[in-house]
Parts: sequence; structure tokens; C-alpha cells
Amino acid sequence: MLSKKMEEQLNEQINAEIYSGYLYYAMEAYFEDEDLTGFANWMHVQAQEELLHAHKFFNYINERGGRVRLDGIETPKNDWDSPLGVFKEAYEHETKVTERINNLYDLALEDKDHATASFLKWFIDEQVEEEASADEIVNKLKRVGDSGHGIFMLDNELSNRMLDTAEYAEDGE
Ligand SMILES: [Fe+2]
Ligand SMILES: [Fe+2]
Repeated sequence: MLSKKMEEQLNEQINAEIYSGYLYYAMEAYFEDEDLTGFANWMHVQAQEELLHAHKFFNYINERGGRVRLDGIETPKNDWDSPLGVFKEAYEHETKVTERINNLYDLALEDKDHATASFLKWFIDEQVEEEASADEIVNKLKRVGDSGHGIFMLDNELSNRMLDTAEYAEDGE
């Protein structure tokens, strides 16, 4: 059985993942407004991934005999000054999510809840990727600076991102 505290924290994580999705949808909307459809596509896929993360927690709570309870989602920020500003914020956001996942893992160890610790390992690895991919784009945007051509090239590159559903296939029901 999940401890009461663990059940609560896992439920909060569902909220945090949906909020992440919401934030990335807001970033998608910003890029659509700027006619940067490749950047918008990247954010769209990112948002979809976050909703799948939320559902991974949803399934796990149920599997362990816990009760999923949904809470309200905070209003995300909607305006940014530049693509670099957006990706800096995406990176910052992911470092905060990493902290949350690490805290959950610490709680699982405290609880001697080995199943939850094992479940969370996927997210620990995922966060390494999440931080790295946002950071990579921050660095590319810094290199590109104000060059319209550079932004255009990067927009083109990011238009290729697709959701990797195979990664989540076993969570479907
Ligand atoms: Fe996530
Ligand atoms: Fe994420």
C-alpha cells in the first residue's frame, strides 16, 4: 500500500505534470502568434508528453490501490519577450520538476516503498533528458542571437519533432 503522504504527493505530481502541459501549451500559443510554427510544434509535442507523464502517475496510483483526486490547474504565464526567453523558462521549469521528482524519490526511500522508488526511476532518467533538450535549444538560440536566418533554420529543425508514443505504449489501457 502507498502511505497516505505518498498518495497525496503522487496526486500533486499529476497536477504538476498537467500544469507543465498547460505551460507548454501557452508557449505553443506564443510561438503560433509569432508565426514560428516549428517552435510551436516542439512545444505541442512537449505538452503532449507532459499529459502522458500525468497519466503515468494516474495509472500508478490506481495500480497500487490508491485514489486519484484531481485539483485545479494554475493559470500559466502567456507572454514572453523572445524565443530565448521562452526556452530559458522551459529549462528553469524542468529543473523545478526534477527537484519534485527527487523529493518523491526521497519520500519513497523513507517509506521503504521500493515499488514507488522503482516506478520513479523512469522519471529520474526522463528529467535528465528534459533538462538537456531544453538547455540545448537555449544554447542554440544564444548562438543564433538576433539572426532571422538562424531563427528560421532552428524553426525548421524543431518542426520535425514528433511524439514518441512507443515510450508510453505500456501505459495505455
Ligand atoms: Fe513531465
Ligand atoms: Fe517535462
